[in-house]
Amino acid sequence: MKTRITLFALLAFGTLAVATLTQVGPALAAEEKYFDRSGRLVVEEKPAAELLRTYNPKNREPEKTFPVPSPPFSEGIFPCSDCHADMEPNLTRREMEDEHTDIVLNHAEGQRWCLDCHNPNDRDTLRLVSGEVIPFSESYRLCGQCHGDKYRDWRVGIHGKRTGYWNGDKQYLLCIHCHNPHDPQFKPLTPMPPPERPTGASH
Ligand code: HEC
Ligand code: HEC
Ligand code: HEC
Ligand code: HEC
Repeated sequence: MKTRITLFALLAFGTLAVATLTQVGPALAAEEKYFDRSGRLVVEEKPAAELLRTYNPKNREPEKTFPVPSPPFSEGIFPCSDCHADMEPNLTRREMEDEHTDIVLNHAEGQRWCLDCHNPNDRDTLRLVSGEVIPFSESYRLCGQCHGDKYRDWRVGIHGKRTGYWNGDKQYLLCIHCHNPHDPQFKPLTPMPPPERPTGASH
C-alpha cells in the first residue's frame, strides 16, 4: 500500500508542468519542465511567447472537452443546491448521518475530504486543486489531477471505453461511469453457490 501511495504521489507530481523563464540574449527563451511517464525529468526549450500564452490563465485555451453521457446521478439528488443553497458548508470530517449515509470515503481518505472535490461555494459543481470550478460533466479532469497516466490513456481511448469512429464523433464514458468516486476499488465478486443438481427427476 505504501509503495502504491508513493507511486500515485509521483504520478500526481508528474502532471504538474513547471515553466521557468530565462533571459537569453535579446529574445526570451523558456524552459518547460515536466516528468515523463517513466518518471524522468524532461526539460524542453520553448519560445517564451508560447509558454506565456499557455501559462497565463487569461489567455489559456480552454481545456479540450469530451462528449460524454450525462453524469449518472441518483434520482432526485441533482441539483444539489436544492438543499445546499441554504446550508453552511461543513468542513468537519464525520460520518454522514442526516443525508448521504451511503457515502463512506475510501479513496485516499487520509489526505482529503468531501470538499477537496466538491465545491463548498456551489454544490452543483466540482473544484480542482487550482481553484478552477468545473461542471460534473468534466469530472475526468478532477480525476486526472492525481491519475495523470490513466487520464492520458483515456483521452486517446486506451483506458476505459470510447465508441464511435476514429475519424468521426466519439463518445467517452466518464471515469465515474465505471469507478465509484468515493470508493473506487473494484470489489471482488462474491462467488455464487454452485448450481444444484436437480433431484428426483429420473432420465
Ligand atoms: C475524489 C473526489 C471526491 C470526494 C473526495 C468526494 N466526492 Fe462526492 N462525488 C465526486 C464525483 C466526481 C461525483 C459525481 C458522480 C456523478 O457524476 O454522477 C460525486 C458525487 C457525489 C454525490 C451524488 C451521489 C449520487 O448518488 O448521485 C454526493 C451526494 C456526494 N458526491 C457527496 C460526497 C460526500 C458527502 C463526500 C465526503 C464524505 C464526497 N462526496 C467526497 C467526487 C468526490
Ligand atoms: C435532500 C437534500 C440534499 C441534497 C439534494 C443534497 N444534499 Fe448534500 N447534504 C445534505 C445534508 C442534510 C448534509 C449534512 C449531512 C450530515 O451532516 O450528516 C449534506 C452534506 C453534504 C456534504 C458534506 C459536506 C457538508 O457541507 O456538509 C457534501 C460534500 C454534499 N452534501 C454533497 C452533495 C452533492 C454533491 C449533492 C448533489 C449531487 C448533494 N449533496 C445533494 C443534504 C442534501
Ligand atoms: C487527490 C488525489 C486523487 C484524486 C483527485 C483522485 N484520486 Fe483516485 N486515488 C488516489 C490515491 C492516492 C489512490 C490510492 C490509494 C487509495 O485507493 O486510497 C487512488 C486510487 C484510485 C483507484 C484504484 C483503486 C484500486 O486500488 O483498485 C481508482 C480506480 C481511482 N483512484 C479512481 C479515481 C477517480 C475515478 C477519480 C475522480 C473521480 C479519482 N480517482 C480522483 C488519489 C486521487
Ligand atoms: C469503461 C469503464 C472505465 C472507464 C470509463 C475508466 N476506467 Fe479506470 N478502470 C477500468 C477497469 C475495468 C479497470 C481495472 C482493469 C485495468 O487496470 O485496466 C480500471 C482501473 C483503473 C485504475 C487502477 C489501475 C491500477 O493500476 O490499479 C485507475 C487509477 C483508474 N482506472 C482510473 C481511471 C480514470 C482516472 C478514468 C477517467 C479518466 C477511468 N479510470 C476511466 C474501467 C474504466
